[in-house]
Amino acid sequence: MLKAAIIGCGGISNCHMHGYLEMKDRVEVVACCDIDEPKAKEYAERYGIRNYYNNCYDMLKAEKLDLVSVTTWNSAHAECSIAALNAGCNVICEKPMAMNAREAEAMKAAAEKNGKLLMIGFVRRHGNDAYSARRLVDKGELGEIYYAQAKYLRRCGFPGGWFGDKSRSGGGPLIDLGVHVIDLVRYIMGCPKPVSVYGATFDKLGPRPGIKSTIWVSETKVEKPIFNVEDLAVAMIRFDNGAVLNLEASFNLNLPDNEDGIRVYGSKAGLSVSAPFTLYTEYDGQLADIALKGENDFNFHRDFDREMLNFVDAVESKAKCIAPAEDGVELMRILDAVYESARTGRSVDIVR
Ligand SMILES: NC(=O)c1ccc[n+]([C@@H]2O[C@H](COP(=O)([O-])OP(=O)(O)OC[C@H]3O[C@@H](n4cnc5c(N)ncnc54)[C@H](O)[C@@H]3O)[C@@H](O)[C@H]2O)c1
Repeated sequence: MLKAAIIGCGGISNCHMHGYLEMKDRVEVVACCDIDEPKAKEYAERYGIRNYYNNCYDMLKAEKLDLVSVTTWNSAHAECSIAALNAGCNVICEKPMAMNAREAEAMKAAAEKNGKLLMIGFVRRHGNDAYSARRLVDKGELGEIYYAQAKYLRRCGFPGGWFGDKSRSGGGPLIDLGVHVIDLVRYIMGCPKPVSVYGATFDKLGPRPGIKSTIWVSETKVEKPIFNVEDLAVAMIRFDNGAVLNLEASFNLNLPDNEDGIRVYGSKAGLSVSAPFTLYTEYDGQLADIALKGENDFNFHRDFDREMLNFVDAVESKAKCIAPAEDGVELMRILDAVYESARTGRSVDIVR
């Protein structure tokens, strides 16, 4: 039986717990920790977890663990993951991997030094839409993919809590939302390496505190609301295979409605990855749209369970890890470059 622990007992950790509970015959969650000790205690009671702690160091010293979920706010991802890897644990760390590429590289190095798995919580890779898109690309149905569009635009959707505090989040919608769709496009394209970025960020609308938001909000309340991140990020990202990705991500933007979608454009066909999952191609001398009828969707809860299953399978060498650390590092290189380009107003080369 594998022994697991949670670091950071907030909202998304419940999805990791659910995944572990679905594998009761293989995994036992024996400990949890949170810097907010009453929260860790309540969490342990809720799930019947034997031991709880108010910091990861005491927990990693006292427990013999195989698996650790790092589900803290972003600024603690690197510290907690490296501590767990150095304690001999396999780690699944939530997205974004870290605050920047430098931290992400240190995490990857810690995994390699200790011979442990470090998986990144790119949950969108586990959706049926991602599976189907990858299958079509692998079969050559799209031809050469040379352009992609990824949008994660909210009209009014600041999550609140620490998400507006740059010292804990590292940034706004780019690092929180953009990360999902940039990664999914890279994954579908076969993980080309980013080479340059031109980006811009804005903070014209701020948190929009007076407007009722319809989105999920952070569990962590902050005494004094902070908002020192961007509310909109846009970028053109160029990859080493010549393909270009156009990205847009917002917490707040004056548009008609939320827009969350990915399209990839190939020399043989284009593909809307988001529902309805549709190929844009030609047939018998005419333009043709092929809307696949299967369950080609992303399903939050089902796909979190799949992600956790892939983590445990990969640790036991029963499957290949679908979201390895190296892809988290590449993603952080892209995000660093977008912020750098936004700051300087110039295109930024990604140099390795
Ligand atoms: N994959 C997804 O779709 C998805 C969705 C939401 C959030 N997330 C990610 O999950 C992470 C957590 O987000 P959340 O919404 O659950 O936040 P949250 O605020 O609900 O929970 C974070 C918890 O981490 C704790 N914490 C902070 N630093 C810590 C440390 N050093 N040691 C132990 N505990 C610490 C906080 O006290 C808090 O309880 C973030 O990185 C976020 O980007 C991913």
